[in-house]
Amino acid sequence: MYSTNELLEKVNQALADNDVVKAPEGLYAPISYVLSLGGKRIRPVMTLMAYNLYREDVDAAMLPALGLETYHNFTLLHDDLMDRADVRRGKATVHRKWDDNTAILSGDNMLVMAMQRVCQCDAKHLPAVVALFTKTAIEIDEGQQYDMDFESRNDVSEEEYIEMIRLKTSVLLACALKMGAILADAPTSDLEALYEFGEKIGLAFQLQDDYLDVYGDYATFGKQIGGDIMCNKKTYMLINALRLAEGEQAAGLQGWIDKTDAVRDEKVAAVTRIYNQLGIPSMCQARINAYFEQAMACLDKVNLPAERKNMLNELAYKLLNRKS
Ligand code: IPE
Ligand code: IPE
Ligand code: MG
Ligand code: MG
Ligand code: MG
Repeated sequence: MYSTNELLEKVNQALADNDVVKAPEGLYAPISYVLSLGGKRIRPVMTLMAYNLYREDVDAAMLPALGLETYHNFTLLHDDLMDRADVRRGKATVHRKWDDNTAILSGDNMLVMAMQRVCQCDAKHLPAVVALFTKTAIEIDEGQQYDMDFESRNDVSEEEYIEMIRLKTSVLLACALKMGAILADAPTSDLEALYEFGEKIGLAFQLQDDYLDVYGDYATFGKQIGGDIMCNKKTYMLINALRLAEGEQAAGLQGWIDKTDAVRDEKVAAVTRIYNQLGIPSMCQARINAYFEQAMACLDKVNLPAERKNMLNELAYKLLNRKS
C-alpha cells in the first residue's frame, strides 16, 4: 500500500508529465499556470487511495485521477471569476493575471481536457466512469448556481445551505473515491459506502473552507480573508448570525449586508465581530466535527479490515484540521 505522500508525489509527477505547452499560448499558459500552483491535490489522491484499497497498480487509475484534478482546477477558474476573487494559492487568479475572457476560455478548455483524461481508463469501466463524472459535473453547476442565487437572499435555511455545499463541493470528493473504487472492481456496497463517506467529508471540508475564509491566515490559506463576507455568501456562519442576532446587532448586520459601497476591511471586521459575539465560530466547529463523525460511520461500512482504511481515516482527519 502506498502512503499519502507517495500518492501525492505520484500525482504531482504525473501532472508535470502531462503539462500542456502548446499554441496558442493565451489559451494554454493560464492552464499550466493554475495546474502548477500546487494545491492540496486531495481529489486525485483520494481516487488513487480508494483504488489502492483493493489493488496495488495505482497507475491504472492515474489519468482519471488527473482528470478530476483538472476538472477541479477548471471550476476554480470560473469560481474565482464569479466570486470576484483576486488571489488563489497565494497567487493572482487567472482573471486578474490575464482577463475575464481568458478565465472563461481556458476554463472551458480545461473542462474538455478533464473529460479526455477521465475517459482514459480501460474499456470495461468506461461507461460507469463517464456516467459518474458527468452526473457529478452537472450537480456541481447546480450547486454553484444555488451559491450565487443565495448571495441576494436573506432567508436561506441551514438545510438549503447544506444541500448547496453537498452539490458544489461534496459530490466531487465522493466521485473521486467512488471512481477509484470502480476502477478497482470494488463490490457495489463498498462503492456506495465510500461515496457517502466522501459526501460527509465534503460537508465538513466546505464548512471548514467557509470558516477559514473568515478565521484563516492569508499566508497559509492562500485566499483573501473575508471574500465570502464581501459577497454576502450565505455560509453556515452568516445564516446562523442572521438567525441569532437581535435588536441593534441584527440591524447592524443587515446594514452591512445591504451596503453596496462598503470598505472591505471595515465590513469584514464588523461582520467578524458579530460572529464572535454570537459564538458562531464554535458552532461551526461543532458542526464540522459532527460531519466528521458521520463520515467515520460511513467508512466503518466499507467491508475491509480497519488497518486498510487507516489512510482514509487519517486523510479525513488532516483535512478537518487543515489551515490551507
Ligand atoms: C477549493 O478546494 C474549493 C473548495 C471546494 C472549497 P481546495 O481547498 O481543495 O483547493 P486546492 O486545490 O487545495 O487549492
Ligand atoms: C468552492 O466554493 C466550490 C467550487 C469551486 C465548485 P468556494 O467559492 O468557497 O471556493 P473557494 O473558497 O473560492 O476556493
Ligand atoms: Mg464560490
Ligand atoms: Mg470562491
Ligand atoms: Mg471558500
